[in-house]
Amino acid sequence: MAFEISLAGKTALITGAAGGFGRATARMLASAGANLLVSDIDMAAAEALARELEADFGVKAAANSCNVVRQQEVCAMVDQAVDTFGRLDIVNHIAGVFDAVDFLEATEADYDRQLNVNTKGTFFVDQAALRVMIPNRSGKIVNMCSQAGKFGFPTNVAYTTSKFGVTGMTQAVAMYAAPYNINVNCVCPGIVRTSIWERALDEIRERGEDAEAYFESRLQGIPLKRAQTIEDIAHMFLYLSSCYADNMTGQSINITGGRIMH
Ligand SMILES: NC(=O)c1ccc[n+]([C@@H]2O[C@H](COP(=O)([O-])OP(=O)(O)OC[C@H]3O[C@@H](n4cnc5c(N)ncnc54)[C@H](O)[C@@H]3O)[C@@H](O)[C@H]2O)c1
Repeated sequence: MAFEISLAGKTALITGAAGGFGRATARMLASAGANLLVSDIDMAAAEALARELEADFGVKAAANSCNVVRQQEVCAMVDQAVDTFGRLDIVNHIAGVFDAVDFLEATEADYDRQLNVNTKGTFFVDQAALRVMIPNRSGKIVNMCSQAGKFGFPTNVAYTTSKFGVTGMTQAVAMYAAPYNINVNCVCPGIVRTSIWERALDEIRERGEDAEAYFESRLQGIPLKRAQTIEDIAHMFLYLSSCYADNMTGQSINITGGRIMH
């Protein structure tokens, strides 16, 4: 029998669904048959994606607008998934922000923005998901981390801090959820030139630096000698959302072309 991942009959919630990884992951899960609530602060893009998923994959899809920093909006998002589809089996929490402000120039607002969206947002999303999953004694949560959750990048001190938080939180939430047969893991991508990077490169250009050289420098030292693709990352979200990951929890999986090995 061919190896196949089927999520038929499952409901998945994806945050950051309008972004590069979120959109690719939504398409990957829909191709495996999951019904989806796709959420982003960009509601128009989430709506368009939901219609696209229904047309391309024949699944049911709905859109949600949620700022993951606001706890009540996060709870309402999870409620919408349950109200719309009657269940919630999978959460892929992908929303995040990144900047490349020099450490000595960073303001309190720069720090707060990244810690709030990346770390506090993960806290609220995992918490709201578990409130629904614990009574069902099943569920899969996959958080978005980064290679910056494993290695201290001097060019991105606040971002690194926020993503180390995600690694630790994933372990703690996994321990909390384990008695209820719920798996909690995270994915640590290396580098993909999505809009998150384009915005950071614009900031670098604005301060008069060579943005292309900056980006190229980040590709140095990758043993497999290439940046990742959004599909490289989406495949891992699919795997960790499936029954093939039933005995994995608390893990932070690197997809960095070998750049990070621990
Ligand atoms: N691109 C990379 O190289 C890379 C590497 C490692 C990790 N990541 C992580 O991947 C995730 C997604 O990034 P991406 O590369 O797809 O970037 P992206 O900018 O294309 O997507 C991010 C999405 O998150 C949404 N978002 C931002 N703030 C939000 C908030 N407060 N509430 C809800 N949604 C919000 C945005 O609207 C956007 O659609 C982030 O967590 C990022 O840290 C990216």
